[in-house]
Amino acid sequence: QIARLQALEILDSRGNPTLSVTVTLTDGNSATASVPSGASTGLHEAVELRDDDRNRYGGKGVRRAAAHVEGEIADALMGLDARAQSDIDHVMIALDGTDTKGRLGGNAILGVSIAVARASALAQGRPLYRSLNDADDYLLPVPCMNVLNGGKHADSSLDFQEFMIVPHGAPGFAEAVRYGAETYAALRSLLHDRGLATSVGDEGGFAPRLDSNEAACELIVAAIERAGYRPGVDIAIALDPAASSFAEGESYHLSRSRTRRLDRAALLALYGRWIDAYPIVSIEDGFGEEDWAGFIDQTADQGDRIQIVGDDLFVTNPRIIREGIARHAANAALIKPNQIGTVTETIEAVRICQQAGWGTMVSHRSGETADDFIADFAVAMGAGQIKSGAPCRGERLAKYNRLIAIEAELGDRARMAAPFARYVERR
Ligand code: PGA
Ligand code: ZN
Repeated sequence: QIARLQALEILDSRGNPTLSVTVTLTDGNSATASVPSGASTGLHEAVELRDDDRNRYGGKGVRRAAAHVEGEIADALMGLDARAQSDIDHVMIALDGTDTKGRLGGNAILGVSIAVARASALAQGRPLYRSLNDADDYLLPVPCMNVLNGGKHADSSLDFQEFMIVPHGAPGFAEAVRYGAETYAALRSLLHDRGLATSVGDEGGFAPRLDSNEAACELIVAAIERAGYRPGVDIAIALDPAASSFAEGESYHLSRSRTRRLDRAALLALYGRWIDAYPIVSIEDGFGEEDWAGFIDQTADQGDRIQIVGDDLFVTNPRIIREGIARHAANAALIKPNQIGTVTETIEAVRICQQAGWGTMVSHRSGETADDFIADFAVAMGAGQIKSGAPCRGERLAKYNRLIAIEAELGDRARMAAPFARYVERR
């Protein structure tokens, strides 16, 4: 039973305040969770409650959210069984009373929700992934590692936010991490040889000044080869342009590399050329979050050759994902617990996708902590894919390292997911 909730204002990987929540049970077990924070956030995400007190952290403090955890939320949850995750999450949703969790704060609610999930696992003496889903066998996710950072994540020359490497040909998770880390090291030496910066962006990827967005794809292919892997066979590419951040109404403004405006059809054609030229298996947020027609056109045109992922478009919201499925607006969803604000709703979002035959990519945020909940979550759900940045920066590696440990613990009871097999075959 829940005996106590405590909240602390801590810092995330960008040095901004975020929330840490500790749940203590009557049996003495206690568990802590901390919540991440995005930079390229979707319009319809759960509200991150900030203090707006200009005298502290430029208004970004989370003392109000912390007070909600220790006040109203604690009062409502006292004495409840921590194993009743769904009941607890629904108590908090009802207590908040808004559609956006804007009153108590999505950050306050998610912090409690994850801490409760951990406390429940502890009370049952089970690893978190097993307490989230007790299965005989588990699927390990393919890591999608963001090795070149642009957009809102870095002052690089790249308009597109994320260029990821996907070691889909690796036989296991730790091997996939090795393929990725070796390619990342090869990319660093390539950049160094060309006199380009090797400093990193928010998600640990490099942030060089390249001549064009397309040059990033060329560099990644060269790095894969330099590391001794076969592009498209061992390691493929995934993109997250995060197009909402350069959408201007119906047009797209690629301002950093070369000032030019593309309309929806021209942007779609650009993706088409890239898919032909490079081993791309997935594009996330290729169009802006308000451009449903862009997503629908891309899915009709390119959805049999690549995975089309909605992030800002769906914001892990079960209702919007259902709409996306009905309208054929993608064939996969990004899954970020803090976009929706409870573990229960995040599970629902994944299940809806799986029932529709859609892919799911569990994701960190650009502002992170060392919390590794998403690693256990991805395994529990059999999500198939995870993105947690480059193999660099402690908050990114916390998730990959946890997955290496889960793989070792599970032995033969785990196998690698193959979410991209259908696209690789069709190339
Ligand atoms: P964010 O970006 O965490 O800065 O919102 C991640 C993404 O767009 O996938
Ligand atoms: Zn995204």
